[in-house]
Amino acid sequence: MTAVLFTCAGQRVDIVSAFGRAGATTVATDLDPLAPALYHADRRALVPPVSDPGYVAALAALVAEHDVRLVVPLTDLDQEIVSAAREALEPALVLAPTPNVCRTMGDKYLAHAFFSEHGIPSPRTWLPDDVPGDARYPLLVKVREGFGSRHIYRADDPDELDFHLRSTPVESMVQERCLGEEFSIDVFCDVGGRCLNAIPRSMIQSKGGESIKGRSLADGELVEHGASVAETVGIVGPANVQCFREPDGSLPVTDVNPRFGGAFPLPLAAGSRYPELALALARGERPEPRLGEFREGIVMTRFFSDLCLVEDGNGGLVPFAEELPHPIAVEPGEA
Ligand SMILES: Nc1ncnc2c1ncn2[C@@H]1O[C@H](COP(=O)(O)OP(=O)(O)O)[C@@H](O)[C@H]1O
Ligand SMILES: [Mg+2]
Repeated sequence: MTAVLFTCAGQRVDIVSAFGRAGATTVATDLDPLAPALYHADRRALVPPVSDPGYVAALAALVAEHDVRLVVPLTDLDQEIVSAAREALEPALVLAPTPNVCRTMGDKYLAHAFFSEHGIPSPRTWLPDDVPGDARYPLLVKVREGFGSRHIYRADDPDELDFHLRSTPVESMVQERCLGEEFSIDVFCDVGGRCLNAIPRSMIQSKGGESIKGRSLADGELVEHGASVAETVGIVGPANVQCFREPDGSLPVTDVNPRFGGAFPLPLAAGSRYPELALALARGERPEPRLGEFREGIVMTRFFSDLCLVEDGNGGLVPFAEELPHPIAVEPGEA
């Protein structure tokens, strides 16, 4: 069994459980004892905040203690830190691109500049002082280092643009608003940056920046696009490529997240086998690319779930077991 360490496990019960089903021994870490994914892993550990100088040492100690062979950062929070700690976490493989790729994709202006330099289509984008007179409205005032669709403001004319640029509380850029349909492509690349699969999906509905309803699509053009963007960016492991299909047929890219996407269960159900591929990489294997091999027409609809915990008597928490020695309440009508 390959032991896999998940950092910032948070609510990613879907990912931790899928690796467990793929045959991994799962070790989940978080700083919050109420992170639900901790209780769906074979082992769990609390760690310091990602900004703590002892964070990497705490992860390295867990790698040694549990004989971990793969480290999977699950959020943007520590991706660059974990990527930069590759040597300290050996012999485990860190499933993330280089720190430079993490940093570039984490700043939407740097990402746009990278796309432009490398021939990847991207909506026209400027720093606040550089917006030209011929910019096409509506424009978006968009946070540079953002997530969860926060701090994105629409401007329909120059007055609204000035207003949003003055009032946004975060460092921003200005981007032309795309007009077509939005798509998301969940890709997976090997340690050499070769794309193994790319699974496009529609964005039927999003909530708080996360796709909650979507459908897998057999769209060869999007498969090719996702794979070529991933390989150009230098993705290692999973990533989520977001783009629009514009009326002129172009596919401008707006966001690349070098980690498992929020809609992970959809490509999984479509047959991605991304956990199995990740475990194969951890064993040093070179799986063959299977671009476009997945089930189309899989529809995902997501919902909240919950977990009840009780104190374990040692200062920790354990999942609440249903088998109680006594009824805790009488049924109505029973005395
Ligand atoms: N240039 C754009 N044109 C149209 N819609 C956009 C554009 N940029 C972002 N959006 C919308 O805002 C959402 C969040 O933007 P995104 O760049 O993905 O940032 P993040 O997901 O990091 O918050 C997108 O999913 C999309 O619906
Ligand atoms: Mg996004």
